[in-house]
Amino acid sequence: MRKKIVAGNWKMNTTLQEGVALAKEVNEALKDATPKCDVVIAVPFTHLASINAVIDQNKLGLGAENCADHKSGAYTGEVSAPMVASTGATYVILGHSERRQYYGETSEILKEKVALALENNLTPIFCIGEVLEERENGTYHDVVKKQIEEALFNLSAEDFGKIILAYEPVWAIGTGKTATDEQAEDMHAYIRSVIADRYGKEVAENTSILYGGSCKPSNAAQLFAKPDVDGGLIGGASLDAASFMGIVNAF
Ligand code: PGA
Repeated sequence: MRKKIVAGNWKMNTTLQEGVALAKEVNEALKDATPKCDVVIAVPFTHLASINAVIDQNKLGLGAENCADHKSGAYTGEVSAPMVASTGATYVILGHSERRQYYGETSEILKEKVALALENNLTPIFCIGEVLEERENGTYHDVVKKQIEEALFNLSAEDFGKIILAYEPVWAIGTGKTATDEQAEDMHAYIRSVIADRYGKEVAENTSILYGGSCKPSNAAQLFAKPDVDGGLIGGASLDAASFMGIVNAF
Protein backbone atom coordinates (compact mmCIF):
# COMPACT_ATOMS: atom_id res chain seq x y z
CA MET A 1 0.00 0.00 0.00
CA ARG A 2 1.27 3.46 -0.85
CA LYS A 3 2.08 5.89 1.92
CA LYS A 4 -0.01 8.88 2.88
CA ILE A 5 2.26 11.87 3.39
CA VAL A 6 1.97 15.48 4.44
CA ALA A 7 5.15 17.42 3.68
CA GLY A 8 5.88 21.05 4.48
CA ASN A 9 7.86 23.19 2.06
CA TRP A 10 9.15 26.16 3.98
CA LYS A 11 10.69 27.78 0.88
CA MET A 12 12.93 30.78 1.65
CA ASN A 13 11.37 31.55 5.00
CA THR A 14 12.56 31.67 8.62
CA THR A 15 15.95 32.48 10.07
CA LEU A 16 17.84 29.58 11.59
CA GLN A 17 16.52 30.42 15.06
CA GLU A 18 12.93 30.77 13.86
CA GLY A 19 13.21 27.57 11.88
CA VAL A 20 14.57 25.53 14.78
CA ALA A 21 11.75 26.87 16.98
CA LEU A 22 9.12 25.95 14.37
CA ALA A 23 10.57 22.46 13.88
CA LYS A 24 10.56 21.93 17.64
CA GLU A 25 6.93 22.99 17.79
CA VAL A 26 5.91 20.54 15.06
CA ASN A 27 8.02 17.80 16.65
CA GLU A 28 6.36 18.46 20.00
CA ALA A 29 2.88 18.33 18.47
CA LEU A 30 3.70 14.95 16.92
CA LYS A 31 5.24 13.46 20.04
CA ASP A 32 2.09 11.96 21.49
CA ALA A 33 0.12 11.95 18.26
CA THR A 34 -0.53 9.02 15.98
CA PRO A 35 -1.13 10.71 12.65
CA LYS A 36 -2.57 8.61 9.82
CA CYS A 37 0.21 9.78 7.51
CA ASP A 38 3.95 10.31 7.40
CA VAL A 39 4.95 13.87 8.20
CA VAL A 40 7.94 15.60 6.61
CA ILE A 41 9.35 19.13 6.67
CA ALA A 42 11.55 20.44 3.86
CA VAL A 43 13.63 23.36 5.08
CA PRO A 44 16.43 25.69 3.93
CA PHE A 45 19.90 24.10 3.65
CA THR A 46 21.22 26.28 6.46
CA HIS A 47 18.69 24.78 8.89
CA LEU A 48 19.09 21.08 8.15
CA ALA A 49 21.77 19.99 10.61
CA SER A 50 20.39 22.05 13.50
CA ILE A 51 16.85 20.82 12.94
CA ASN A 52 18.04 17.24 12.62
CA ALA A 53 19.47 17.61 16.12
CA VAL A 54 16.15 18.63 17.70
CA ILE A 55 13.55 16.40 16.01
CA ASP A 56 12.71 12.71 16.21
CA GLN A 57 12.92 11.52 12.63
CA ASN A 58 10.82 8.49 13.45
CA LYS A 59 7.96 10.96 13.78
CA LEU A 60 9.02 13.84 11.58
CA GLY A 61 11.03 13.35 8.39
CA LEU A 62 13.49 16.00 7.28
CA GLY A 63 14.28 17.13 3.77
CA ALA A 64 15.98 19.78 1.67
CA GLU A 65 14.19 21.91 -0.90
CA ASN A 66 16.70 21.31 -3.68
CA CYS A 67 20.13 19.84 -4.38
CA ALA A 68 22.80 20.35 -7.01
CA ASP A 69 23.03 18.49 -10.30
CA HIS A 70 26.69 17.65 -9.61
CA LYS A 71 28.27 15.52 -6.93
CA SER A 72 31.06 17.93 -5.91
CA GLY A 73 33.54 20.40 -7.33
CA ALA A 74 33.78 23.95 -8.57
CA TYR A 75 30.13 24.98 -8.36
CA THR A 76 30.23 28.00 -6.08
CA GLY A 77 27.16 28.32 -3.90
CA GLU A 78 25.66 24.94 -4.71
CA VAL A 79 24.77 22.23 -2.18
CA SER A 80 25.17 18.62 -3.26
CA ALA A 81 23.06 15.56 -2.52
CA PRO A 82 25.87 13.99 -0.42
CA MET A 83 26.03 17.22 1.62
CA VAL A 84 22.28 17.14 2.21
CA ALA A 85 22.44 13.49 3.23
CA SER A 86 25.32 14.22 5.61
CA THR A 87 23.07 16.54 7.65
CA GLY A 88 20.72 13.68 8.47
CA ALA A 89 18.03 14.71 5.97
CA THR A 90 16.39 11.89 4.04
CA TYR A 91 14.13 13.73 1.58
CA VAL A 92 14.68 16.33 -1.10
CA ILE A 93 12.14 18.35 -3.08
CA LEU A 94 13.12 18.45 -6.75
CA GLY A 95 11.62 20.24 -9.72
CA HIS A 96 9.50 22.68 -7.78
CA SER A 97 7.87 25.13 -10.20
CA GLU A 98 9.72 28.03 -8.55
CA ARG A 99 13.03 26.30 -9.35
CA ARG A 100 11.89 25.59 -12.91
CA GLN A 101 10.60 29.12 -13.43
CA TYR A 102 13.16 31.31 -11.64
CA TYR A 103 16.29 29.18 -11.85
CA GLY A 104 15.87 27.60 -15.25
CA GLU A 105 15.71 23.99 -14.13
CA THR A 106 15.01 21.79 -17.12
CA SER A 107 14.15 18.11 -17.28
CA GLU A 108 17.77 17.40 -18.27
CA ILE A 109 19.05 19.05 -15.11
CA LEU A 110 16.37 17.42 -12.98
CA LYS A 111 17.30 13.99 -14.28
CA GLU A 112 20.80 14.50 -12.85
CA LYS A 113 19.42 15.73 -9.54
CA VAL A 114 17.10 12.76 -9.21
CA ALA A 115 19.94 10.33 -9.92
CA LEU A 116 22.21 11.98 -7.33
CA ALA A 117 19.43 12.11 -4.74
CA LEU A 118 18.75 8.38 -5.16
CA GLU A 119 22.45 7.54 -5.10
CA ASN A 120 22.64 9.26 -1.72
CA ASN A 121 19.55 7.58 -0.32
CA LEU A 122 17.47 10.73 -0.41
CA THR A 123 13.81 10.29 -1.30
CA PRO A 124 12.91 12.78 -4.04
CA ILE A 125 9.61 14.60 -3.74
CA PHE A 126 9.35 15.39 -7.42
CA CYS A 127 7.07 18.27 -8.41
CA ILE A 128 5.09 18.58 -11.62
CA GLY A 129 2.29 20.87 -12.69
CA GLU A 130 0.94 23.14 -15.37
CA VAL A 131 0.75 26.93 -15.52
CA LEU A 132 -2.56 28.78 -15.81
CA GLU A 133 -2.36 29.15 -19.58
CA GLU A 134 -1.94 25.38 -19.97
CA ARG A 135 -4.88 24.76 -17.65
CA GLU A 136 -7.00 27.14 -19.70
CA ASN A 137 -5.97 25.87 -23.15
CA GLY A 138 -6.56 22.28 -22.09
CA THR A 139 -3.00 20.97 -22.54
CA TYR A 140 -2.43 20.30 -18.83
CA HIS A 141 -2.50 16.51 -19.02
CA ASP A 142 0.12 16.50 -21.79
CA VAL A 143 2.31 19.03 -19.98
CA VAL A 144 2.41 16.98 -16.79
CA LYS A 145 2.95 13.73 -18.70
CA LYS A 146 5.93 15.26 -20.49
CA GLN A 147 7.45 16.51 -17.22
CA ILE A 148 7.26 13.00 -15.78
CA GLU A 149 8.49 11.24 -18.93
CA GLU A 150 11.44 13.55 -19.49
CA ALA A 151 12.85 13.55 -15.97
CA LEU A 152 11.83 10.20 -14.51
CA PHE A 153 11.08 7.56 -17.13
CA ASN A 154 14.76 6.76 -17.57
CA LEU A 155 14.65 5.22 -14.08
CA SER A 156 14.40 1.49 -13.44
CA ALA A 157 11.11 0.35 -11.92
CA GLU A 158 12.95 -0.18 -8.65
CA ASP A 159 14.25 3.38 -8.57
CA PHE A 160 10.97 4.86 -9.77
CA GLY A 161 9.37 3.12 -6.81
CA LYS A 162 11.42 5.34 -4.49
CA ILE A 163 9.97 8.59 -5.88
CA ILE A 164 7.18 10.61 -4.29
CA LEU A 165 5.32 12.79 -6.79
CA ALA A 166 3.71 16.12 -5.99
CA TYR A 167 1.17 17.56 -8.40
CA GLU A 168 1.24 21.30 -7.96
CA PRO A 169 -0.76 23.33 -10.45
CA VAL A 170 1.32 26.52 -10.68
CA TRP A 171 -1.81 28.68 -10.72
CA ALA A 172 -2.70 27.34 -7.28
CA ILE A 173 0.65 27.91 -5.57
CA GLY A 174 0.57 30.70 -3.04
CA THR A 175 -2.47 32.21 -4.74
CA GLY A 176 -5.17 31.06 -2.35
CA LYS A 177 -6.80 29.47 -5.41
CA THR A 178 -6.85 25.72 -4.68
CA ALA A 179 -7.60 23.18 -7.36
CA THR A 180 -10.99 21.62 -6.67
CA ASP A 181 -10.92 18.10 -5.33
CA GLU A 182 -12.30 16.94 -8.69
CA GLN A 183 -9.51 18.72 -10.60
CA ALA A 184 -6.91 17.19 -8.31
CA GLU A 185 -8.39 13.70 -8.53
CA ASP A 186 -8.64 13.93 -12.32
CA MET A 187 -4.95 14.77 -12.63
CA HIS A 188 -3.77 12.32 -9.98
CA ALA A 189 -5.67 9.45 -11.61
CA TYR A 190 -4.23 10.48 -14.96
CA ILE A 191 -0.68 10.55 -13.54
CA ARG A 192 -1.22 7.09 -12.09
CA SER A 193 -2.33 5.82 -15.51
CA VAL A 194 0.80 7.30 -17.12
CA ILE A 195 2.95 5.49 -14.55
CA ALA A 196 1.00 2.26 -15.10
CA ASP A 197 1.62 2.44 -18.85
CA ARG A 198 5.37 2.68 -18.28
CA TYR A 199 5.99 0.60 -15.14
CA GLY A 200 2.84 -1.49 -14.68
CA LYS A 201 -0.11 -1.32 -12.37
CA GLU A 202 1.67 -2.40 -9.22
CA VAL A 203 4.29 0.36 -9.34
CA ALA A 204 1.56 2.89 -10.18
CA GLU A 205 -0.60 1.77 -7.27
CA ASN A 206 2.36 2.03 -4.90
CA THR A 207 3.38 5.57 -5.91
CA SER A 208 2.37 8.32 -3.49
CA ILE A 209 1.06 11.37 -5.34
CA LEU A 210 0.70 14.49 -3.20
CA TYR A 211 -1.32 17.58 -4.05
CA GLY A 212 0.17 21.04 -3.54
CA GLY A 213 -1.18 24.53 -4.03
CA SER A 214 -2.96 26.59 -1.38
CA CYS A 215 -3.70 23.51 0.67
CA LYS A 216 -4.89 24.48 4.15
CA PRO A 217 -6.71 22.94 7.12
CA SER A 218 -10.08 24.01 5.71
CA ASN A 219 -9.70 22.23 2.35
CA ALA A 220 -7.26 19.39 3.11
CA ALA A 221 -9.81 16.80 4.25
CA GLN A 222 -11.83 17.16 1.06
CA LEU A 223 -8.74 16.86 -1.15
CA PHE A 224 -7.29 13.93 0.81
CA ALA A 225 -10.61 12.07 0.63
CA LYS A 226 -10.06 11.54 -3.09
CA PRO A 227 -8.77 8.04 -3.86
CA ASP A 228 -5.70 9.11 -5.83
CA VAL A 229 -4.68 12.03 -3.61
CA ASP A 230 -2.19 10.61 -1.13
CA GLY A 231 -1.45 13.74 0.86
CA GLY A 232 -0.12 17.23 0.39
CA LEU A 233 2.93 19.38 -0.18
CA ILE A 234 2.25 22.44 1.89
CA GLY A 235 3.86 25.84 1.44
CA GLY A 236 2.42 28.81 3.32
CA ALA A 237 0.38 26.78 5.79
CA SER A 238 3.46 24.79 6.87
CA LEU A 239 5.00 27.92 8.43
CA ASP A 240 2.56 27.79 11.31
CA ALA A 241 2.67 24.64 13.45
CA ALA A 242 -1.04 24.72 14.24
CA SER A 243 -2.18 25.01 10.63
CA PHE A 244 0.37 22.43 9.48
CA MET A 245 -0.91 20.03 12.14
CA GLY A 246 -4.45 20.88 11.08
CA ILE A 247 -3.57 19.52 7.63
CA VAL A 248 -1.80 16.46 9.07
CA ASN A 249 -4.91 15.74 11.11
CA ALA A 250 -7.13 16.06 8.05
CA PHE A 251 -6.38 12.38 7.42
P1 PGA B 1 1.40 26.94 -1.10
O1 PGA B 1 2.72 26.32 -1.78
O2 PGA B 1 0.85 25.87 -0.17
O3 PGA B 1 1.89 28.15 -0.36
O4 PGA B 1 0.45 27.25 -2.20
C1 PGA B 1 2.78 24.96 -2.13
C2 PGA B 1 4.15 24.68 -2.72
O5 PGA B 1 4.65 25.50 -3.50
O6 PGA B 1 4.76 23.62 -2.43
